[in-house]
Amino acid sequence: MKVLFASSEVWPLIKTGGLGDVAYSLPQALQQQGVDIRIVLPAYQEVLKQLDSFEILGWLSLTLAGKEHCVRILQSHPKKFSMPLWLVDCQALFDRAGNPYSNEEGHDWHDNAERFALFSLAVAKLGMDALNLNWKPDVVHAHDWQTGLVPAFLDNEIDRPKRVFTIHNLAYGGYFPLQEFQRLQLPSQWWSSEGIEFYGNMSMIKAGIIYADEVTTVSPSYAKEICTAEFGYGLEGVLLHRQYKLTGILNGIDPDAWNPQTDPLLPHHYSAEQSSLGKQKNKQALLESNGIEATDDNLAAPLLGMVSRLVEQKGVDMIIEAIPQLLENSNANFIFIGTGHPHIEAQLLKLSEQHPQRIMVSIEYSEKKAHLLEAGCDLFMMPSRFEPCGLNQLYSLRYGTLPIVHRTGGLADTVVNTYFIEPEHEKINSDATGFVFDNATTDEFLKTTQYALSIFSQKKRWNQIQHNAMQQDYSWDKSALEYLRLYS
Ligand code: ADP
Ligand code: GLC
Repeated sequence: MKVLFASSEVWPLIKTGGLGDVAYSLPQALQQQGVDIRIVLPAYQEVLKQLDSFEILGWLSLTLAGKEHCVRILQSHPKKFSMPLWLVDCQALFDRAGNPYSNEEGHDWHDNAERFALFSLAVAKLGMDALNLNWKPDVVHAHDWQTGLVPAFLDNEIDRPKRVFTIHNLAYGGYFPLQEFQRLQLPSQWWSSEGIEFYGNMSMIKAGIIYADEVTTVSPSYAKEICTAEFGYGLEGVLLHRQYKLTGILNGIDPDAWNPQTDPLLPHHYSAEQSSLGKQKNKQALLESNGIEATDDNLAAPLLGMVSRLVEQKGVDMIIEAIPQLLENSNANFIFIGTGHPHIEAQLLKLSEQHPQRIMVSIEYSEKKAHLLEAGCDLFMMPSRFEPCGLNQLYSLRYGTLPIVHRTGGLADTVVNTYFIEPEHEKINSDATGFVFDNATTDEFLKTTQYALSIFSQKKRWNQIQHNAMQQDYSWDKSALEYLRLYS
């Protein structure tokens, strides 16, 4: 089984969110199952800078927007990768500073339609072995809107590979105006409601859904949710009619990168058996690295954390609204690491200025800090309005940092609630791994957090839930087999 795996980001070379993690760890897991796999990524400036060496596999001459692009295809074997990495090197489109989708001021690149249409065209050609490498995949697996045109470009090819398309987040549809479709001179037959046209615009994610042989998304619950108006972003009808080819496969995590017993980014390692001591030492390091004295009181106080893109999806506003009451009614402290919308960043910074001893905020992207936060906190806040899968709650479970989550998408599929309350009595669920609330409102988040804090003070109960959480197996083993079955 040969698979060409196309993504616009791949950890550790380039990452803006969970897609980067999955595009690294899933191929590794598939390869361990015997799949012969190549990952293909745009040759961003940031990625080229990190490569020790590469070889040129060949040149593709690709026509887009009336221009002839001479694109180099590079092959590299970066450290950590157990398979070859292919890079689509088109300097005019990818050799620039900034992140994959936006410039250094945070604005989307003006030519994103062209950049990812060209990348997709190159992937489709590689899928047909256009370089005569004697390596033609059985399956091309494309991810999110950035590679949505891959299945479309393959549509006219005879003897093409099977096309699998994975939706990681339907909120990002790769929408561009008709003029852009015309400027790129994409095939006119694509412009229909049964093609990539979407309310007068083009949608690259819709192209992926329409033209792929199989569509997957990253949790069983999200696969159902996106077929409804609440979560479908207008594509619910398209998806509902294609449920026959839609599957939800839960993401896994890289068990080496996120292992509290060996994590090289942690000052202190720990296992489920001695988690209290290990977490306490990391908590001390976390507090001190944020300029807070690790007094006995501070070490004993519950520490609630969040690592996130600061966007509406993640429900940070609910936390911000709940914090004044939590500060008043408990001794909890808070820590945030994230980047995103300037107004959310500003609100968090304001809170930390008002309560410098109780709220720590880092507006930055830092893997090191994210790992220490996971290890040093007691609770992880993830009240996402929707969450296709979510990886941070999985990292939190593994690190014994009990997640507080909204019952949606992958959060609903991975966190087992601690309690159910009948009017008079509360029962602890013996399988519990965290705290789950049903509706994304500040009030429910607040009540659930207060409940979690009450359990925190009951050490025996707390330790049991923490132990359960750390025993969960969210490695890729099971999900990689599901992908393999689908490919076959
Ligand atoms: P999403 O992909 O929607 O952002 P996930 O939970 O699937 O959500 O994955 C987010 C990933 O990005 C996790 O690996 C998380 O640790 C990482 N991440 C997000 N923001 C930051 C940040 N500011 N610093 C370090 N890592 C971050
Ligand atoms: C997206 C989703 C997130 C998911 C990740 C990886 O960014 O928002 O829920 O975990 O992709 O699939």
